[in-house]
Amino acid sequence: MVRKKIKISVVMGSQSDWKTLQKCQDIFKSFDLLFEKKIISAHRTPKRLYEYANNLSKTDIQVVIAGAGGAAHLPGMIASMTTIPVLGVPIQTKTLSGIDSLLSIVQMPYGIPLPTLAIGEVGAKNAALSAVSILGLNDEKIKKKLERFRIKQTESIKKVPR
Ligand code: RP5
Repeated sequence: MVRKKIKISVVMGSQSDWKTLQKCQDIFKSFDLLFEKKIISAHRTPKRLYEYANNLSKTDIQVVIAGAGGAAHLPGMIASMTTIPVLGVPIQTKTLSGIDSLLSIVQMPYGIPLPTLAIGEVGAKNAALSAVSILGLNDEKIKKKLERFRIKQTESIKKVPR
């Protein structure tokens, strides 16, 4: 039996971010996709960050989902060290409701693009769907599944309220 390659990496700045990022899991499960998950803190484990991002090109990973909260530099730092697409998920924070995370991630200066999703769980789920869409570019089966997902979603919307 051929072992499936892991092409998606989900990285978080802290164990506490997993509560949000685990929302990716259900999406990947429904698309039958494997992913790896890692805790890497840009400021608390900078060496781990450097090693991870620098080695990405030697792995099968084709898309990274990176979530962090507060002064959220993790997604941008990873993006700066790889040309693999990195999708940023701003984690909702207690003090500023995640506006801090959102601005830290979305406001990357020119040259290092960092596609940024919505704050919190919706962002995590949409990041997973974006990853599916990216992988679908080179995989007809994944693309078809995503098309079916969209059709089902459309069909689930009633025309009139009950
Ligand atoms: C960030 O600080 C993490 O991404 C997390 O969202 C936030 C709080 O981390 P903990 O104090 O819960 O470890 O680096």
